Amino acid sequence: MLIAPSMLACDFRHIGPEATRALEAGADWLHLDVMDGSFVDNISFGPDICAAIRRSVPEDAYLDAHLMIDAPDHYLPRFIKAGMNMITIHVEREGAIDLHATLAAIRAAGAHAGLAVNPATPVEKVLPYLEELDMVLVMSVVPGFGGQSFMADVLDKVRRLDAERKARSLTFLIQMDGGIGAAQAPLCKEAGADCLVAGSSTFRAPDMAAAIASMK
Ligand code: DX5
Ligand code: ZN
Repeated sequence: MLIAPSMLACDFRHIGPEATRALEAGADWLHLDVMDGSFVDNISFGPDICAAIRRSVPEDAYLDAHLMIDAPDHYLPRFIKAGMNMITIHVEREGAIDLHATLAAIRAAGAHAGLAVNPATPVEKVLPYLEELDMVLVMSVVPGFGGQSFMADVLDKVRRLDAERKARSLTFLIQMDGGIGAAQAPLCKEAGADCLVAGSSTFRAPDMAAAIASMK
């Protein structure tokens, strides 16, 4: 199980050292929550901060950017330039932007491509894209803020995606994000998840290494 601490929950006064602290505590990936104040009701940080995090960590650190923004197609080149390894966009922007083209552009730039699905969005929305994806992100909270409660009903989406993955012989990862700690990790694993995003339960834990180890 990959554990991806969300930088949204770190101490923003020391964002570089916080990234290092997470990696030294055993984080597999670092999750970077980008919010534009329009797609979600919050503003976090953009490509320049992502680039600063990139410069703060070893070259082989895997940076996972979750773009909760209206125009991921427009901003994509800046996140590529910032050195993101995975770039996840939201299926809810279908119709407003060309998701197929944006996913192809992510991969053409040498990054991995992810597609996220909000709790209120049916999982069927992502099924037409599975062949084009390195990861599906199943949101287990309404995106915008850390520290919310895990919505267990989304586990059915994970089960469905895992079944589709087997049926179609695909290898995309399934990531879950929101309200996840040691109590939720076994449920996510049982449903078929491969990667867990965790903000509050890692950065705000008294011992981050122990928190990550207990999730694993
Ligand atoms: C929510 C973000 C999550 C969030 C997770 O909009 O996508 O990544 O930071 O934080 P916790 O683990 O505190 O729910
Ligand atoms: Zn996220």
